[in-house]
Amino acid sequence: RELFAQPAPLLGFAGVPVQTAADFDRVLVPPGYRAQAFFSWGDAVLADAPVWRSDASDDWQAQLRQAGDNHDGMHFFPFADAPHSHGLLAINHEYVNPTLHPDGMTFEDGRRPLAEVKKEQAAHGVSVIEVRKDAAGHWQRVMPSRYNRRISALTPMAIGGPLAGHALMKTASDPSGREVLGTLNNCANGFTPWGTYLACEENWHHYFVNRDAADHGQRVAHQRYGVGNGGRSKYYAWETADPRFDATPDPRQPHGGQVNEPNRFGWVVEIDPFDPASQPVKRTAFGRFSRECAVLSLGADGRMAFYSGDDAKGEYVYKFVPAGRFDADNPQANRDLLDEGTLYVARFDADGTGRWLALLHGQNGLTAEHGFASQAEVLVNARAAADRVGATPMDRPEWIAVHPQSREVYVTLTNNDERGETQPLDAANPRPHNLHGQILRWNEKDGDPTASEFRWELFLLAGEPPGAKDPDGQAVAEHLTGSIRGDIFSSPDGLAFDGAGRLWIQTDYDDAESAMQAMGCNQLLCADPLSREVRRFLVGPRGCEITGITWSPDYRAMWINVQHPALSYPASDGQTRARSTTVLVTRDDGGVIGA
Ligand code: FEO
Ligand code: CA
Ligand code: CA
Ligand code: CA
Repeated sequence: RELFAQPAPLLGFAGVPVQTAADFDRVLVPPGYRAQAFFSWGDAVLADAPVWRSDASDDWQAQLRQAGDNHDGMHFFPFADAPHSHGLLAINHEYVNPTLHPDGMTFEDGRRPLAEVKKEQAAHGVSVIEVRKDAAGHWQRVMPSRYNRRISALTPMAIGGPLAGHALMKTASDPSGREVLGTLNNCANGFTPWGTYLACEENWHHYFVNRDAADHGQRVAHQRYGVGNGGRSKYYAWETADPRFDATPDPRQPHGGQVNEPNRFGWVVEIDPFDPASQPVKRTAFGRFSRECAVLSLGADGRMAFYSGDDAKGEYVYKFVPAGRFDADNPQANRDLLDEGTLYVARFDADGTGRWLALLHGQNGLTAEHGFASQAEVLVNARAAADRVGATPMDRPEWIAVHPQSREVYVTLTNNDERGETQPLDAANPRPHNLHGQILRWNEKDGDPTASEFRWELFLLAGEPPGAKDPDGQAVAEHLTGSIRGDIFSSPDGLAFDGAGRLWIQTDYDDAESAMQAMGCNQLLCADPLSREVRRFLVGPRGCEITGITWSPDYRAMWINVQHPALSYPASDGQTRARSTTVLVTRDDGGVIGA
């Protein structure tokens, strides 16, 4: 009889409406739920951190002890003896806003002041914070805590895997090619079954400049990634104060100066949150690109895949298959599992099948005559290697999520306004001038994470419903209409499954753009993978994106991030400067979120 019973509906909450008010400055959740600011930029992390100054006059040494800016991907790591009430949150700090300083980002005689640059570097990276449920059942931060830690763009990290000590990683400031300072632009993330955090390095190319146009043009490791090729680096002009970020070759210096420094970013950074003295390791076997995430699929036999998007227009979806297997009984054996394995890139064929193409030196044209002298060149220039093997250019692959039971894999393709121009339309990326994005899903052959073949389909096209009218009464253009069953949204970005198989979708679009007016402020939605119903669960303040999502293991507490709000938040007083913030979501009756 049970076989024929209706499954319990996955979406058990009342959806919330879009929020189109220009002054919407809070977080809205369904009736029966509560959302509270939990951890904002500037909050104390280390015990000796000064109290955050609302005029942003904290210096770089204070910032090194406080929460960084632009909270993004995060993960909850439970303590084994009290998993549902005690854990560590590891939280990425992707980049910095001008509000980091009292008067924005300044120049003096064409140079950034070193004190500002150091504060910006200190506000990047990762926070690890201890959290615990108190006797009344409320989640609190634990202060002080031996686990609380700030990792920044200044933290020494080891280079692991095939590139460790390689000539491509050597610089004047690190002739060993084995130690790099810091991690940059940590956007999405991942975790391992052995309890480590994976921070991923996304738009690192905007932190560097190579002003030698001829060298830049022929240096694939710069040119193919969009490292700046003149003037100042795109984001913060750090190179005007910190020569490490000037990647112009300098033949007078050993190893060409800092020309290889960009090669030391774009990786997966493995961090042990339970050992605050441990050194983070950049795992180079994963390959180098604008790394969104590294999301685990664990097979019953301990074999693994880690999926990654490369978030740029027309870039690719990858997976890394470690050579070894996860062994729960032998933690020591898992320590360096991520240093050896095979990197693959995806081809999505029009008939709904797909292939994983190995990026291995000597195979598929990845040979010296094509610029790949060894596996090191393949990994450092993974994009060029993927071009060579015929991967499918996608509409900006962002996050990836793996269904907890079926291992079906979902990817957000956030948007691509150049589709139909720079890249042709295809079955997986079917709309020209794609402003709203889509979610695609696939099943590996036989459910095996390490398979080389899969079947895929589009899960939904985001956008407005067919027949929708714009505020002037004109029909919305066909390429802006989607296939959503339920509440509308644009630009899916963050993506994760909870333990019951609810698919949580987070958005990142410019809520001031005219094509987004029907969408209102950025959102968190929940989808049922079977019925494809989508329901809006949360709306954030004006100007923010909603990103980062994790739960306590009982799924009765959920944390999400409000990133770069435009209005005063979390103060919502119209005065205090806006702060990126981790928000705790709970149910008044203590139930499972979303159920
Ligand atoms: Fe930092 Fe692709 O999002
Ligand atoms: Ca993102
Ligand atoms: Ca995004
Ligand atoms: Ca972002």
